[in-house]
Amino acid sequence: MRAIVCTDYGPPDVLQLADVLKPVPKDNEVLVRIRATTVSAADCELRRFDFAPWIWVPIRLSFGIRRPRQPVLGQELAGDIESVGKDVRSLRKGDRVFSATGIGLGAYAEYICLRENPQTGAIATMPANLSYEEAAAVPYGGGEASQFLRKANVRSGQRVLVNGAGGSFGTFAVQLAKVLGAHVTAVDSAPKLEMLRAIGADRVIDYS
Ligand SMILES: NC(=O)c1ccc[n+]([C@@H]2O[C@H](COP(=O)([O-])OP(=O)(O)OC[C@H]3O[C@@H](n4cnc5c(N)ncnc54)[C@H](OP(=O)(O)O)[C@@H]3O)[C@@H](O)[C@H]2O)c1
Repeated sequence: MRAIVCTDYGPPDVLQLADVLKPVPKDNEVLVRIRATTVSAADCELRRFDFAPWIWVPIRLSFGIRRPRQPVLGQELAGDIESVGKDVRSLRKGDRVFSATGIGLGAYAEYICLRENPQTGAIATMPANLSYEEAAAVPYGGGEASQFLRKANVRSGQRVLVNGAGGSFGTFAVQLAKVLGAHVTAVDSAPKLEMLRAIGADRVIDYS
């Protein structure tokens, strides 16, 4: 299969198109034909290895000292299940799924094997009204925003301020807080303020 492999830590040209082995699912895994993925801020940080000194060593040990141990980056995807391991119960061949791959990465490829019940990340069937491109952009931003809003126990009538509202977490947080009935103030850079009003922010603030 084809994949984009990360040959070193550095600028975007360390990413190269290559032929790699197509993975084979274990008994508790599904094989997904990937139709769409994303390039997130976190992917770029990892590719550049752009981390604060105090976490530099532990992340380098975990992801690979000279180059990424898992050369296929990418943490979000949407696609079709092509085959399932014999112990998989909740997912079937042909299901349209979206996933956050967690620290396993691997989404910049034509295929990936994912556990039915991952230890990090998540996999679920896609809502029928989403395209693959739309669904692939949901897992991290949507998942984190809904987790934090739940943690804050946001209720109808409360006032919520979303800092970094124009980013992947923030755009979901603004919309979910509106669905919960909150009055939302969105903070981000000037070019994003009109978009933030369009997705429901009651008040916008230019961070500069
Ligand atoms: N996505 C992930 O997988 C992931 C994982 C772990 C941690 N995080 C962290 O979680 C945070 C949010 O992630 P994200 O994916 O939503 O990032 P993102 O898409 O890059 O969004 C960040 C937003 O914050 C805005 N911003 C920058 N400086 C600001 C300031 N001083 N005040 C208010 N807004 C400001 C940016 O605007 P401009 O670009 O126009 O300045 C951008 O719209 C980031 O700190 C990221 O490093 C992300």
